[in-house]
Amino acid sequence: MKRLLGGGACLSRCCPLLLLLALLRLGSSSGACPCGDPALCRPIAGTPEFEVFVFDVGRKTWKFYDWSQITTVAAFGKYDPELLCYAHSKGARVVLKGDVPVKEIIDSANRTAWIARQVDLAKKQYMDGINIDIEQEVIVMSPEYYALTALVKETTDAFHREIPGSQVTFDVAWSPACIDKRCYNYSGIADACDFLFVMSYDEQSQVWTECIARANAPYNQTLDGYDDYISMSIEPKKLVMGVPWYGYDYRCLDLSKDHVCSLPNISFRGAPCSDAAGRQVTYGTIMKQVNSSISGSLWDEEQKAPYYEYKDSLGHFHQVWYDNPQSISLKATYAKKRGLRGIGMWNGNCLDYSRSSVAEQQTEAMWRALRP
Ligand SMILES: *[C@@H]1O[C@H](CO)[C@@H](O)[C@H](O)[C@H]1NC(C)=O
Ligand SMILES: *[C@@H]1O[C@H](CO)[C@@H](O)[C@H](O)[C@H]1NC(C)=O
Ligand SMILES: *[C@@H]1O[C@H](CO)[C@@H](O)[C@H](O)[C@H]1NC(C)=O
Ligand SMILES: *[C@@H]1O[C@H](CO)[C@@H](O)[C@H](O)[C@H]1NC(C)=O
Ligand SMILES: *[C@@H]1O[C@H](CO)[C@@H](O)[C@H](O)[C@H]1NC(C)=O
Repeated sequence: MKRLLGGGACLSRCCPLLLLLALLRLGSSSGACPCGDPALCRPIAGTPEFEVFVFDVGRKTWKFYDWSQITTVAAFGKYDPELLCYAHSKGARVVLKGDVPVKEIIDSANRTAWIARQVDLAKKQYMDGINIDIEQEVIVMSPEYYALTALVKETTDAFHREIPGSQVTFDVAWSPACIDKRCYNYSGIADACDFLFVMSYDEQSQVWTECIARANAPYNQTLDGYDDYISMSIEPKKLVMGVPWYGYDYRCLDLSKDHVCSLPNISFRGAPCSDAAGRQVTYGTIMKQVNSSISGSLWDEEQKAPYYEYKDSLGHFHQVWYDNPQSISLKATYAKKRGLRGIGMWNGNCLDYSRSSVAEQQTEAMWRALRP
């Protein structure tokens, strides 16, 4: 059955029986349309002039997103048919999250089976594609390395064939330099899908120099990552810039007068020091704390990022690094100038969507910073 459905060749040269079987199967894999207007269950087609790609991790705060900008929502929370219908009414795609242990897709039959399950799920939920988020270690030229490129290619072919207009994307680290031991065939994967979402954050996951708190996504380091992707002949139009709507709270071993916060050595994938020494905090939480901190919001001109310092109830000093409209609009300006395909964030839910006027202003400013 899978082979029949999978075969574009079969459908084009079709004999009526096979076509009938295929139609029956299509019918059985789709549930009833959950939207008031059945037209909202049709897949979204077309390429927006600028992508605004939002990761949503669940709950209902999506109701307060700036839908005038959004082109794609990657639904990483529980499936929410209300979100699906609403996004479609705004012309925005909703895509699945795709993740699978890489060692399980070395075998081509296993890949085919995994892909068929994803296509089936997407159809059943009237979704418009898949965002493949494999953040696993892969050794260059290993069986997993080749299998991963094949997985992306075969997933893209299957989705494009089965859901017209659908979008297949792949998440990559801020740089192609085997960050966190993810040695992938980046140019092969970029060719094989619609675009890469570059996760320009967690850029201190592997620190080889001094063990001190630094920005989550320093300006220069972020831009260097894009230069490296583009210099491996990946077109700018294959890259969407991911920015963080969260920061890191570090407890300092020592905090010097000139704002150097030294950290314990917590190693990660071979590096002696890592942002694993800190704790991720959302922009919403940060904004509730910054005004009452010891330092207030400070700006690091070298990294072009804001930070602040506070003392916890046990008397320990902390330094918190984050991104705000000022740091994000600098990066967004580069994205536009460099001709990248768009921008997006991890994640849309990180803002304070309570309707107090201060929160509302902060939230609007963060959305606006995506399109300076
Ligand atoms: C791969 O597929 C085979 C059957 O083709 C199955 O027995 C096996 O469990 C699958 N392995 C994984 C890791 O999914
Ligand atoms: C990357 O993938 C492409 C497409 O499959 C292939 O042509 C190329 O040789 C691969 N590059 C490396 C270094 O493996
Ligand atoms: C951390 O590691 C560096 C060398 O990698 C070493 O010089 C330093 O003393 C270590 N610091 C702590 C607190 O263990
Ligand atoms: C924090 O201070 C800034 C600037 O002084 C102000 O605009 C903002 O409203 C304050 N935030 C809160 C939550 O009071
Ligand atoms: C950042 O990059 C610019 C342009 O390449 C360079 O002039 C500047 O010195 C860099 N700054 C730092 C702190 O590395």
